[in-house]
Amino acid sequence: MTGVNRGLDGVAVAETRLSTMDGEAGELIIGGFPVEELADNATFEETLYLFFRGRLPDAEELSAFRSDLAECRAIGDEVLAVLRRAAEEEKPAMDALRMGAAAANLGTEDGDPEADALRVVAAFPTIVAAYWRYRVGEEPIEPDPDLGHAANYLYMLTGERPDERAVRGLETYLNAVVDHGLNASTFTARVVVSTESDVVSAATAAVGTLKGPLHGGAPGPVLDMLKEIHESGDPEAYVREKLEADERLMGFGHRIYRVRDPRAAVLEAAAEQFYDDDDDFFETITDFEDVAVDLLAEYKPDRDLETNVEFYTAALLHGVGVPQELFPATFGIARVGGWMAHALEQLEDNRLIRPESRYTGERGRSWTPIGER
Ligand code: CMC
Repeated sequence: MTGVNRGLDGVAVAETRLSTMDGEAGELIIGGFPVEELADNATFEETLYLFFRGRLPDAEELSAFRSDLAECRAIGDEVLAVLRRAAEEEKPAMDALRMGAAAANLGTEDGDPEADALRVVAAFPTIVAAYWRYRVGEEPIEPDPDLGHAANYLYMLTGERPDERAVRGLETYLNAVVDHGLNASTFTARVVVSTESDVVSAATAAVGTLKGPLHGGAPGPVLDMLKEIHESGDPEAYVREKLEADERLMGFGHRIYRVRDPRAAVLEAAAEQFYDDDDDFFETITDFEDVAVDLLAEYKPDRDLETNVEFYTAALLHGVGVPQELFPATFGIARVGGWMAHALEQLEDNRLIRPESRYTGERGRSWTPIGER
């Protein structure tokens, strides 16, 4: 065995038709489309269809796909009981999503991977919204089959029909983050099914991977940071204090991108419309980005640390009206589409993913009976 690559940087372990990025040019292609084009035009159902069937649907196919997905939204009383308990104990939404996904009976009787994958994608918003309703002391709202995937999620959070602008904002978000190469949670999903386990298990494991702040857990802290700076009016002092303390600035830096994450521009444009001119919060956000990027270059001259997807995720989801506690779980509602499509792709031509480790422990120990230690 040669050296150890601790972060697996630059190691390709799968071929995929789903997405690819150029970290130097700042380009992202999803299902063959530049992210800018797909994010702004597609409904999330169209993106899912593209992922599962390899092309865009015509009107009839889309309508049938929408109904199939809507039919699988309901979750059972046993799942609701788990979510109620998670909410009562104020567990984070990602813990509730993991518990709900594990408790839900999402596998079909014949274990057809594509049917199971659709059921998982359909159930995620229902799980998150039901948990949220319990968190705010209300009963869950039944899914509305007449509403699309994004609109129904917003409806289940509040009981009110969302306006078109909010639905479009959320669709843009879901499309922009549905997939991103072999990120950590997608890798997890592929590893799980590579053992010939099932796609429901893959989704549950991937939720756990997405939760961490180095992956999907950053946008909540980003919003806290932006609110603090909006109040203090001093972005430079904030950034210097963090960087002097050797802390990471949430929403900046990326393993692949050496330039601004292309999703940041998509989400920034989508977010702006939610902040009117009287409210200078959006200005605080864009000013902060400029200050942060300059100071990151000063403190970390050897790295190209630019804005990543999570920075404007916070601005957009806040604008759409998604509660801050649900930012990572809403990321999960989008990314589960990518996880499931990758899992199906892995199964098409599976080989067990099984890397190696280099042993640094001792050898040649001899056993000492317990009374003599
Ligand atoms: N603030 C300050 N310093 C940073 C940051 C940051 N946001 N990101 C990287 N660095 C520094 C890091 O301290 C290290 O410096 P040094 O070489 O002096 O020790 C150097 O850059 C390299 O860091 P790394 O951890 O080897 O880089 P990575 O490619 O593994 O990190 C990252 C990628 C996203 C984990 C990292 O940039 C980070 O922690 N960012 C903040 C958290 C964040 O925004 N997370 C969302 C990630 S994007 C969405 C997603 O992928 O799901």
